[in-house]
Amino acid sequence: DWTPAAFVQETVARIKQQVGDKKVVMALSGGVDSTVAAELIHKAIGPNLYCVFVDNGLLRKDEFETVLDSYKHMGLNVKGVNAKDLFYGQLNGVKDPEEKRKIIGRLFIEVFQQEAVQLKDIAFLGQGTIYPDVIESVSVNGPSATIKSHHNVGGLPEKMNMSLVEPLRFLFKDEVRRVGKEIGISDIFLARHPFPGPGLAIRILGDITAEKVEMLQEADAIYIEGLKEAGLYNQVWQAGTILLPVQSVGVMGDERTYEFCVALRAVTSTDGMTADWAHLPYEFLAKISNDIINKVKGINRVVYDISSKPPATIEWE
Ligand code: XMP
Repeated sequence: DWTPAAFVQETVARIKQQVGDKKVVMALSGGVDSTVAAELIHKAIGPNLYCVFVDNGLLRKDEFETVLDSYKHMGLNVKGVNAKDLFYGQLNGVKDPEEKRKIIGRLFIEVFQQEAVQLKDIAFLGQGTIYPDVIESVSVNGPSATIKSHHNVGGLPEKMNMSLVEPLRFLFKDEVRRVGKEIGISDIFLARHPFPGPGLAIRILGDITAEKVEMLQEADAIYIEGLKEAGLYNQVWQAGTILLPVQSVGVMGDERTYEFCVALRAVTSTDGMTADWAHLPYEFLAKISNDIINKVKGINRVVYDISSKPPATIEWE
């Protein structure tokens, strides 16, 4: 029978054998998978694991600083790279969702490669690939692989000429969480909702500017904090805010406003392949709506997305 304890023991031994006294480089995303994978590799080879965490400017509010800090507390050898301006520059004026994904994927590889070549004698590339990623990236009819191009897998290994270390390759998400718990990874990582690689770029419909990112980060932080405070965060599979490319009329005091609208999204799901919109309490939605409109400059309207997947998708882009 599969147990997290036995898995950890076997995997750490296998990584030791595979890597020996060579070095591994790995990109961290702040997500469950890369964090658990890194910690397993770290258990096996200690400081010979070199981690890179890239700030693409499209993460949640304060996420880069907080997560980088947690990684350091875990004892990981991690370098944070601020590449915001590069990403904003290249995304300037780009509206097409797939184009955004391509640019972000390409820049991410560029930045990571630049860091990796500065480290000498790296022989292995660590990755947090899990079993569903493997299936989705090989099956022609895999839903997300064909409908939206995810870039978690692929790209990196071919270009970098390194062997892979993928300790989670045969695990499902719930097993990854159990392994993470077994090796003492904090709930900050384990209970975190999935977050797309292209980040807020695909939650800002239309073109991306630093101002829009900041506006969305503020609204998103109010929503996510609110879910946690109300004890609802762990009851939904994923939640987030979407900045619509729509301005509408409102009234604030005696003034007419003409500002942006955000959509709140929350879904229940077991694997992200199908999902239902979460029936969040009206009182909760009312409070979040008020808070966002009162606190976030530039937003005067909030709507709730009541579409399920299929036929809608979880993200809007
Ligand atoms: P959709 O929108 O296809 O999303 O229903 C299903 C799950 O995949 C995530 N998602 C992405 N993850 N890169 C990622 O790493 C992407 O380009 C991407 N697009 C969607 C989405 O957040 C949800 O969890």
